[in-house]
Amino acid sequence: MRRIGINQAKPGIKLARSVINATGNVLVRQGVTLTSRYIERLREKGISQLYIEDDISEGIETEDLISDETRYYTQSVVKEVMNDILWQNRLNRVPEITKVVNNIVDELLSNDNILVNMKDIRMIDDYTFGHCTNVCILSVITGIELGYNELRLRDLGVGALLHDIGKMRIPKHILQKPGRLTSEEYEQVKQHTIYGFEILKDCDDIRAPAANAALGHHERFNGTGYPRGLTGEDTHEYAKVIAIADVYDAMTSDRVYRMGMEPYEAGSYLTSMGDILFDSELVNTFIKNIALYPVGSSVILSTGEKGLVSKNHGHHPNRPTIRIIYDPYGEKYDTYREINLAEWPEITITQICEDLN
Ligand SMILES: [Fe+2]
Repeated sequence: MRRIGINQAKPGIKLARSVINATGNVLVRQGVTLTSRYIERLREKGISQLYIEDDISEGIETEDLISDETRYYTQSVVKEVMNDILWQNRLNRVPEITKVVNNIVDELLSNDNILVNMKDIRMIDDYTFGHCTNVCILSVITGIELGYNELRLRDLGVGALLHDIGKMRIPKHILQKPGRLTSEEYEQVKQHTIYGFEILKDCDDIRAPAANAALGHHERFNGTGYPRGLTGEDTHEYAKVIAIADVYDAMTSDRVYRMGMEPYEAGSYLTSMGDILFDSELVNTFIKNIALYPVGSSVILSTGEKGLVSKNHGHHPNRPTIRIIYDPYGEKYDTYREINLAEWPEITITQICEDLN
């Protein structure tokens, strides 16, 4: 399978992964041959990329780290929890929250080769629920890399899943305002960290570290964050991990007003902000488990050749194996060879593109 931009999708191609909304309803099922109507429908839903199946990508496979079942159950729980805060101003469903976080921790712990190797393709309308779920998954992965025990992973996971719960107390017209916020509006938005802390702290069944994680997820290493302007030294480690996962997922997701960045772009931004906005050691730990060029991506190499990322190697997020398809003149090779960039230090990836041709 490989990933292409929706604008490259042509009728007749075969979908390699189902397109599913936040609560698990299938929009177009895996294996379907796309018609122009399907493509239009996907475009209308704000889907910008697709995983497809074809000859040149035969044998290239990648899997999500979390089962679809867990991902969509988590998203539907987040949706309900947020609605409860909105309409009843209380945090309900703590058993469900505990259950989904435990599922995520268990699935990740049982995987001995953790590497985020897929681009999560989401509908624009479903951003919030998918975002909370992804921040939880990315934070727990980082916690595992940091050697946290299960109890710590669960606290980190709950804090990450509910990090923005306080936003439910901010007026919708401010949260969804398309233009620039006034300084008063921005001050109100900042309060979501404190509201989130209060909501979680007041709940007997949520442990204090999770509440502290929500409180500190907008603090920045150099003290320029909010609500308290704490530096890296004084910010709770869970909050620092969640801050990185939050920014990474926000940057790589499509929004109404812009396309999501590629993982390598978000990764290099985080690295460049090490010990400025984010704890650089935690950024390095975070990035170890993210494939900066996910399997199925189309790339151009410094040799001028074009190919597909066919494999990633744990802890070497920017030196994948590439299946070379086109020569530097744009001619297709008769047979495709694969090169592991870890063994070819002089060859670099110069560009990632929407499609190969
Ligand atoms: Fe936030």
